[in-house]
Amino acid sequence: MTLIDLPLLMKDSVRGKRSAVTCALKCANQCASGPCNHSDNSRFRDIASAALTRRRMLGGTSGAVAIALAGTLGACSNPSGGGSGASDGGSGSGAGGGAAPNGSALGFEAIAPVDLETDEFTVPEGFAWHPIIRWGDPLFEDAPDFDWNAQSAEAQERQFGYNNDYTEIQEIPDSDGKRAVMFVNHEYTNENIMLPPETDEAAAMEIGMAAHGLTVVELQRESAEEPYTYVRDGELNRRILLDTEFALTGPAAGSELTRTAADPEGRTVLGTLGNCAGGLTPWGTLLSGEENFHGYFRAAGTSEADKRYGLADEATARNWEAAHERFDARGEDHRNEPNRFGWIVEVDPFDPESTPRKHTALGRFKHEGANVILAEDGRAVAYSGDDEVFDYLYKFVSRDTYVEGDTEHNKTLLEDGDLFVAKFTGNSPAAEIDGSGAVPADGAFDGTGEWLPLVLDGASQVEGFTLEEVLVHTRLAADLVGPTKMDRCEDVEPSLATGRVYVACTNNDGRGTEGEAPVDEMNPRAENRDGHVVEIDEQGDQTSTTFAWNLLLVCGDPAQGDQTYFSGFAPEEVSPISCPDNLAFDSVGNLWISTDGAPDGIGYNDGLFRVTLEGDARGRVEQFLAVPREAETCGPIVRDEDRSAFVSVQHPGEDGEWGAHTSHFPDYDGTGPRPTVVQVLPA
Ligand code: FEO
Ligand code: CA
Ligand code: CA
Repeated sequence: MTLIDLPLLMKDSVRGKRSAVTCALKCANQCASGPCNHSDNSRFRDIASAALTRRRMLGGTSGAVAIALAGTLGACSNPSGGGSGASDGGSGSGAGGGAAPNGSALGFEAIAPVDLETDEFTVPEGFAWHPIIRWGDPLFEDAPDFDWNAQSAEAQERQFGYNNDYTEIQEIPDSDGKRAVMFVNHEYTNENIMLPPETDEAAAMEIGMAAHGLTVVELQRESAEEPYTYVRDGELNRRILLDTEFALTGPAAGSELTRTAADPEGRTVLGTLGNCAGGLTPWGTLLSGEENFHGYFRAAGTSEADKRYGLADEATARNWEAAHERFDARGEDHRNEPNRFGWIVEVDPFDPESTPRKHTALGRFKHEGANVILAEDGRAVAYSGDDEVFDYLYKFVSRDTYVEGDTEHNKTLLEDGDLFVAKFTGNSPAAEIDGSGAVPADGAFDGTGEWLPLVLDGASQVEGFTLEEVLVHTRLAADLVGPTKMDRCEDVEPSLATGRVYVACTNNDGRGTEGEAPVDEMNPRAENRDGHVVEIDEQGDQTSTTFAWNLLLVCGDPAQGDQTYFSGFAPEEVSPISCPDNLAFDSVGNLWISTDGAPDGIGYNDGLFRVTLEGDARGRVEQFLAVPREAETCGPIVRDEDRSAFVSVQHPGEDGEWGAHTSHFPDYDGTGPRPTVVQVLPA
């Protein structure tokens, strides 16, 4: 079996109820190792002194571095007839049901929270769920049908990958709404439940590698009332794998920091890793964030840069470094290979021959994803969170401006521009932020903020750092300018309706604990278990370097006595929500939130929730669906005009093992679980 001594890699300090397997496979026990950010950035810094220590930090020589809770029954289209989609009620509080806010056509009665043993996909009364594509489904004519007992790397390369995360669907022009192209990230793999234990170790490793990457696949439907099905052998179908060439773009492309023995030019990278969330650009391409890339590399682990990114001299969970030397970054030849991951990737789904790109101008960190909005002057503005406890929130502003209809030009917009990191200041007395989550006397967690420059006009703004160093070692550069340490920024998404920007801070159980950053008005709860959602208002100018902010939600379950905040909306009338992760908007500007971690938080399965942003019902949270046992909800897409929503169900049954599966979603035929993209629409 490919996983080397996996139990040994599951550290004792895995926190909460989170699966130890997930901790090892998804993020290399990131939380068990403690925060990577030990910087003291919120205090006055002696920049000159910091500059003097730069060489030491970068490892020495040549810059190389080293809702109404009716207990509703959901309809279910389980193809094999198992699974009723029933929810069992639960003890949560009730969400005022039914009436869609703000004119949304997607009216529904909120479902009750779903208990942790439930392996069904739960939807509101009157809706049904349909699997569009599952792990292992063949994408091409020559790809074999999925066979649990006969999987191979060759087959996997031609099949849908594992752990679907970010998902986007665009209609194919002139197809009468009947054809679309879907883009999907495959964040990581759960080899423990994918493959029989007797699988040859080398074969298992290659299968796991082939199940990473990205998929582009065509969809078709008869009408908006019918669910999509995927098109085997569609012209746009594509798997992007670990041997697919990516072009590095921007100021750090070709720098000493991105060169390796295998790529002395430092401009061509093979593959993408840890692809978590993403975003659709105004010019129709897709962005994907390379998040937990550190878990794939064994590195010297001695430089400040290695430490700051969580790179260590320890065997990795999948042991790829034993078979593919580029994943062993301890020697000179491959020491920069990890520097070629941790970027925002751009893919053109309409051109299967195009070379995907990694944009160095947006900085290198554990990108959850990135989302772009056009400023009034036409510049492209991308927001991106670094998803690790106590890390930062970033904004990129392109040098050039968008040209309507000129896709080739627009595809260059993320190659050059200014890079900023966020600092938030609260407006309430510090004594009123007591760590409980109690709202301060002025009635809001709110204040002002600044975007602190890291790069302006093609020049580093960080003393002692070259431009290339700022972009490759962005975390270290940001530490020196004093940004706010955040409670794990996941999706950051601007509303195209209002320009306001929403940030899902998923949780941070180290907040306010001994030796860690204390609570502040932006991150007001100690040992933040359930997360919160930030609203940023740049007052109509997305290029502004100042803004106002407030917390839209402080998550939790009021019925269990959690200290929560729903923008003043009655807590007894909302669906309980925990660990916000991915964000989306419907056509009338309501925010939709998918969650990852509710089992560890409020003790229910994860789900998808609608949040009203405007009017008297601002802050009302209504649960639309719940995913099966041990899964997280990813990649939400809401088409309220079609009364339809889509989610990616990631790592169902992650705590199981071969022969003792804990989930059987979506086939319910006695086999194990398969990560699946699901469409929900009226039954
Ligand atoms: Fe892959 Fe930030 O979740
Ligand atoms: Ca305040
Ligand atoms: Ca995520």
